Amino acid sequence: MPRYIAILLLATGGLGIAAPGWSADVPDLERGRALYENHCVVCHTPKVHRRVPALPLGIDDLRFIVTLWASQQGLRWNRDEIEDVVFYLDRTHYRFVK
Ligand code: HEC
Repeated sequence: MPRYIAILLLATGGLGIAAPGWSADVPDLERGRALYENHCVVCHTPKVHRRVPALPLGIDDLRFIVTLWASQQGLRWNRDEIEDVVFYLDRTHYRFVK
């Protein structure tokens, strides 16, 4: 194999390996649901998200509260996982993002 191709493969981490990174930008509703159901229904059922008035007033508040609860629970969720749960809660309850 010519040397420049080997270097190119090394630099790109192989061909096609970059593809999984794309999905990171689109929140995953089902993963959000699974994370939420596994870690967050210990204390409250989803009913808490239908309170009037709701605690979060916007998507930033919701993200803040989810981040707070996740760290309070000792969960080491990365940004994608937090976004998935925010997305899940927003789609199923809050509808801040139209
Ligand atoms: C230790 C118990 C406990 C756990 C675990 C917990 N919560 Fe909560 N959560 C609460 C309580 C209690 C409230 C109501 C707080 C209030 O009224 O100030 C609440 C409220 C919320 C609210 C605001 C509800 C609203 O619309 O007013 C959100 C969002 C929320 N929790 C998300 C989560 C997420 C996401 C997780 C999992 C990472 C989680 N919670 C785990 C106890 C918990």
